[in-house]
Amino acid sequence: MGAAGVHQGGEEDRDLARLLAGYIGCATFWLLLSTAVGVIISFKFAYPDLMTSPYLSFGRLRPIHTNDTFYAWASMALVGMAFYVGVKTCGTRLYSIKLGWASLALFNLAALLGTIALDLGFNNGDQEYREWLWWIEAIFMAALVLAAYNLIVTAARRADDDLYLSNWYTIGGMVFTIILASVAIVPWYQRGLGQVGVQAFFMHNAVGMWFTPLTLGLWYYVLPKLLNRPIYSYALGVLAFWTNLVFYPIIGAHHFIFSPLPWWLQTLAIVFSVAMLVPVWAGSANFLLTMRGRWEQVRRSYALPFVFVGVLGYLLGSTQGTFEAFRSLQQVWHLTNFTVGHSHLTMYGFVTFGIWGGIYALLPRATGRAPSLILTGLHFWLATVGVVIYVMALSVGGTIQGLVWISGQPFINSVTAIAPDWLWRAIGGSLMFLSHVVFAWNVWSMITGRAQESRAAQAAEAAS
Ligand code: HEM
Ligand code: HEM
Repeated sequence: MGAAGVHQGGEEDRDLARLLAGYIGCATFWLLLSTAVGVIISFKFAYPDLMTSPYLSFGRLRPIHTNDTFYAWASMALVGMAFYVGVKTCGTRLYSIKLGWASLALFNLAALLGTIALDLGFNNGDQEYREWLWWIEAIFMAALVLAAYNLIVTAARRADDDLYLSNWYTIGGMVFTIILASVAIVPWYQRGLGQVGVQAFFMHNAVGMWFTPLTLGLWYYVLPKLLNRPIYSYALGVLAFWTNLVFYPIIGAHHFIFSPLPWWLQTLAIVFSVAMLVPVWAGSANFLLTMRGRWEQVRRSYALPFVFVGVLGYLLGSTQGTFEAFRSLQQVWHLTNFTVGHSHLTMYGFVTFGIWGGIYALLPRATGRAPSLILTGLHFWLATVGVVIYVMALSVGGTIQGLVWISGQPFINSVTAIAPDWLWRAIGGSLMFLSHVVFAWNVWSMITGRAQESRAAQAAEAAS
């Protein structure tokens, strides 16, 4: 594992712990806010007359939900943990704690201004996941550049020659996302088909080259640490890294199958969507084989069950994505709620569960305080049952919706056909939201609770 966990001393440890707690605390606040909004909009499908004020309209709340889950919740949590993992695996201190706080302040500023602007009706048009005004995106970008610089200089000062795999993923993801954010902000090619091409590139790489590598990089640290055994195959991890980098950037056009984008570009995107099976299966197998034979330990851990569900979410969601890209299946599923099911299987079942696994693994280690085992179990089951209901309802409902459209029936028939599934989605979503309240309490207790409890718990985790 390279230099993982070699270094740390008193005050530096405390500074880093405070920084990590700051990132996780803020991220948790945004998770609560953004998913409360998610619950409201999910009930609007079942009850269209609910909350009709412009400030609470679907058109304004939906991008608040997506941008805040992406750029506030998931991004802040992943960057905070990337710093922590970087420091531990490089056997050095963070280049600048102050810069770390500055990035966090800018991330929060962007999220706050973005949320307010969207709710007041100021946005960047209908370009999904980049609805924030360009200057607000630029603030997010500044936060990202500072964070990347901080992590890269930290890695450059590492004790070993080797750079541990986690940092390849996290630094790689940050550098690629700076390119991605620049492409999203610059005004060229932002009209007509050029805009569609840019949007395809942006939309898929936001999930594939930002959240995915940061989550995978986190697991490459967390799994060996918690299981007290090396990752099953370092080489497989390297293979997954490079194939991810080669195949992912080209698959974005699968969001625009049957659009006026060149047919060859769509075909290329489909072929590379199939090629994505290589990094997805290589990575997932690596994680599952690392856990093999240690299921009792996984079951008794705070963090490992979340990572386990996260790995399944990654494997199933991405493999589903490969099939979803085929033209024959796009005919049924494109523009239906099936896609929303896929989004939550991946961004929730994979990324959000992956982040929770990381938080339950790292925060108690950093602060010396563990959460209640019962409340952690409650968080796990509410979220798991909730997301299973959510994804199943929309997978079934979305398929029916697509089949009704193909059969040429009046549009309203597809609405009445999927209506019960929208209600189920709202019920699943409410369970997910409840789990976030429990999680927020756990984070609070890991940051401010009594220290003794956790020593015992950590000892138990380490011994198991
Ligand atoms: C690696 C294999 C993957 C493939 C081949 C794939 C494929 C697809 C396809 C074809 C669509 C478009 C559906 C449509 O518009 O009809 C889609 C949408 C989406 N995917 Fe994936 N996916 C993969 C992995 C992931 C992962 C890992 C994430 C999240 C981390 C993710 C998040 C999303 C999201 C959020 C959308 C919705 C985009 C929108 O709003 O239109 N996907 N995916
Ligand atoms: C309580 C939990 C949640 C609920 C109830 C919820 C609900 C919703 C609803 C109702 C939509 C609009 C779907 C539509 O336009 O048809 C949506 C979209 C979306 N949500 Fe969530 N959500 C939750 C959590 C999350 C989280 C944690 C993430 C990411 C980390 C996320 C990512 C997304 C994405 C990417 C979309 C766009 C989907 C697409 O266009 O395919 N959601 N969500």
